[in-house]
Amino acid sequence: MRKKILVIHGPNLNLLGEREPEFYGKTSLESINKKMSDIAEKNNIVLEIYQTNYEGEIVEIIHKKRTWADLIVINPAAYTHTSIAVRDALLAVKIPVIEVHLSNIYSRESFRHKSMISDIALGVISGFGEESYFMALDAAKKIIFT
Ligand code: DQA
Repeated sequence: MRKKILVIHGPNLNLLGEREPEFYGKTSLESINKKMSDIAEKNNIVLEIYQTNYEGEIVEIIHKKRTWADLIVINPAAYTHTSIAVRDALLAVKIPVIEVHLSNIYSRESFRHKSMISDIALGVISGFGEESYFMALDAAKKIIFT
C-alpha cells in the first residue's frame, strides 16, 4: 500500500505570490503544490492537497481523511495562533502532524509566537519560505517509511 500524506493550507495562502511577498515569497501556491506533488511522486507517496479560508473546513478535511492519511502536513496560517478547533481535530484523529510556516513566526509580532499546534506536532518547520514545505515532506518521508 502506498503511503499517504494530507497537506492542508489555511487562510490567505491562496494569495501566495501576491500577498506580503517580503514574508511569504513570490511563489504561487499552485507552484508550491506542483513541486510537492513532484517530490511525492518521486518517492511513491500519494499526496492530497487542500487550501481553505474557513476554520471549520480545516476541521472537516481532517475528519474526512482520518482513516486515509498516514501523516498530515499543515500550515494553519492565522488559525495557528487561535484555533482550539483545529488543535482538537488533530488530537481527535491521532495522525502524526508536521506544522509548517513560510515565515519565521518567532521573528515577527508577539501574537504569532504562540501556536495552538506546535506542542502536539511531531515538529515545526518555520522560516524557510517555500522550502519549509519541501523540508516537511522530506521529514515526513523519513517518518512514514521507518
Ligand atoms: C504563516 C504565519 C502566520 O502567522 C500567518 O497568519 C500566515 C502564514 C506562515 O506560513 O508564515 O498566514 O502561517
